[in-house]
This record gives sequence, C-alpha cells and structure tokens, in this order.
Amino acid sequence: MLRSVDQDDSPPTVGIVGAGQLARMTYQAAIPLGLRTRVLATAADESAALVARDLTLGAPTCYQALEELASMCDVLTFDHELVEVTQLEALEAAGHRVRPSAATVGLAQNKLRQREELGALGLPVPAFQALGGPADLLGFANQQGWPVVVKAIRGGYDGRGVWVVNTPTEGVALLDRLGAHQELLVETWVPIERELAILVVRRPAGQTVVYPLVETVQVAGICREVLAPAPVAPKLAEQAKELALRVAAASSVVGVLAVELFETGGRLVINELAARPHNSGHYSIEGCISSQFENHLRAVLDWPLGETDLRAPAVATVNLLGGPNPVDLGRQLPRALAVPGAHVHLYGKGYRPGRKLGHVTALGADRGQAQSLARRAAELLVEPARS
Ligand SMILES: Nc1ncnc2c1ncn2[C@@H]1O[C@H](COP(=O)(O)OP(=O)(O)OP(=O)(O)O)[C@@H](O)[C@H]1O
Ligand SMILES: [Mg+2]
Repeated sequence: MLRSVDQDDSPPTVGIVGAGQLARMTYQAAIPLGLRTRVLATAADESAALVARDLTLGAPTCYQALEELASMCDVLTFDHELVEVTQLEALEAAGHRVRPSAATVGLAQNKLRQREELGALGLPVPAFQALGGPADLLGFANQQGWPVVVKAIRGGYDGRGVWVVNTPTEGVALLDRLGAHQELLVETWVPIERELAILVVRRPAGQTVVYPLVETVQVAGICREVLAPAPVAPKLAEQAKELALRVAAASSVVGVLAVELFETGGRLVINELAARPHNSGHYSIEGCISSQFENHLRAVLDWPLGETDLRAPAVATVNLLGGPNPVDLGRQLPRALAVPGAHVHLYGKGYRPGRKLGHVTALGADRGQAQSLARRAAELLVEPARS
C-alpha cells in the first residue's frame, strides 16, 4: 500500500510519465526541494532520461510500466498527455495518486471535449463541430464561412494536427489524405490579433495561483517567442485571469494548467488547454519568484504554492528550433553565453528541423530590451559561425 506523502520522514518521490524537456526541467526544479524524482522514459536518450538518476524504461501507454513507476513513487505526474485514460483510472482505482487526475488528463488530451465542456460553461471557444466526413466539413464551412480549421481531436502538437482549409476542394483533398483513422473536428478560423497564454496552478487543498498573462508568438503553428507580461489592456489581462481560474475549477486540475488564448476583436477566445508545465511558462524559471516547474511539484504534493510575480518589468523567452540545416548547439554555446543576461537552456535533444532543442530567457527593463537580448543569444546558437 502507498505511504502517505505527509506521513514519512524521507522525501517524497514524484514519478514523471514521459521524459521530454518538461520532465527534465521539472526534475531540475525538484533538486532544491530535496525531492526524489523518477522518470518513465521510452528510450535512454530522451531529454530527461539523460539526466535522471532514477529511470524506469517503458512506454507511457504500457500499464505494466506505469504500475511499476507508480509502485515506486508517492505521486505520478506528466510530461505529456499521450497516455491512455483507462490505464490512469486503473492506477487510481489501485490506490495510486495520479495528479492531475485521469479525468483532467482526459479533458486535456481531447480538443473536442474541451470545446464542448468549456462552451457549455459559457466560456468563449470557436464555433466547432465533430467531423464525420466531407459533408460535415462543407456544411459547417458554408454556414460559418471560409476558411475553416480542421484539427486532430487528440495527439497534435507544434501545429501537427492543425490544417487551415480555404476551399471545398482543399477540404475534400485533406480528408481524403488523412483517411478515416483519425478523429477530427472543424472550427472557425479566428482572425487572431495576438496569441496569449495564461498558467494557473492549483493544489488539492484548493489554493490557486495565476502567472502573468503572456504573449506567445507562433510561426507555422510552433511557439517561437514568449513575452511577459503580454502588452494588452489591464482589463483584458484581468479577464484572462478570471477565465483561467474558472477553467481550473471546472477541470479540477492539480498542478499547472495552461490556457492558450486568441485575442480577436478586443476579446478572448480559448484555443486549448494543457494540464502540465507548458512552453509558455519556461520564462518563469528566471523570470518569476517561483517557476512553473517548482509550483507544479508543490501542487502535486499538495504543498503551499509559491508566488508568481515577475522578477523584472519584462521577460522574454526565445525557443531554439531546429532550422533547415543541422547545427551543433554545444559548439555554438560559448558565443551565446557571452551575451550578458542571457539564460541558455539546452534540452540534450538530437537535431530535427522544427524540433524544440532549447530556449533562451532574458530579463529586461522593458520588452524590447528583454527580447533583443534573448534573440541575440538564440541567433548565435542556431546560426552557424561565419568563419
Ligand atoms: N481556429 C483557429 N483559427 C486561426 N488559427 C488557429 C486556429 N486554431 C489554431 N490556430 C493556429 O495554429 C496554432 C496551433 O494550434 P493548436 O494550439 O490547436 O495546435 P497544437 O499543435 O495542439 O499546438 P501545441 O503545440 O500548442 O500543442 C495556434 O497557435 C494558432 O496559431
Ligand atoms: Mg497550441
């Protein structure tokens, strides 16, 4: 039987399902808290597996692997949502602590359910419909107007699983290409003025903290830059905070919940949720009193949450994305480290075009200063040296 987190002298062990960069940074945040962390990795060369002392090898969809991890940990949490909810339910039924819960993960991994459930609460989501076939797509688009956006209901990330469709011919060709094996939805194309994100962290005892609203700059469906605070009217920032708190309560999340938002016509529309640390919160490592990773750990252990205030008037994070040609980040690193105030994070991942390989954060007196520092270091890392 599991020991209680609160009833033992030895530090609790947090199990992380998945071993990407989020697990790696969560692992890093566990160290000063004296926690033990065990990571479930599919392969020993994954980002967090490269640094974790305690490693379980296995697939995140293998119940035996999850059970083995859970039996060695006080609480299980996640690096991603590519898991089977029924397996999480079985772990819960067996008495293991799963945070966020199977129910919350089920919501976070399903874009259709997010729209249905948030829409039912009166929260702003794009008009949407589940897609059975081309007739649904054409009917929806003729009613709502072109273009429309087709999305994979599960499993999409970094814009994979998102297709803007401009004409009936394009729509039919897309559905033909995707085949029947993928569950899809269609939604209105939103004329986005700005993409925003807000993180909220909730612990089981009820305490909730909210991070500042940030702007996320996306290129081709991938987040390139995160700027804190978002340059929006205070009223909009307040609305985002209220919205995030309502979503956190409705989803009963434990840990970090990221709410991705679109600003359009001066109002907010919810794009999607993630119930785990999120790319839009990496700036908080240096930029906030307590990072999203530290607060995620504190929340899943039901410990008091830390303050989320910014440490500087402006903070910028630039993601390091694999470009068309391979670069040796390790070789370029010293040049980037020569930029004063640039905090470089490398994830230890192999190069692939478009892959998130690391990020750089800089604090500044204003947005322009933080952004140009972070960009300068990032460019030195991903652009080959001219020799
Ligand atoms: N309805 C929409 N209207 C206009 N643009 C959209 C719409 N939905 C998504 N996009 C664009 O596509 C990007 C990716 O969409 P979304 O966040 O749904 O995909 P994802 O692959 O799950 O992303 P993530 O990497 O954040 O998990 C958005 O950030 C936005 O730029
Ligand atoms: Mg997204």
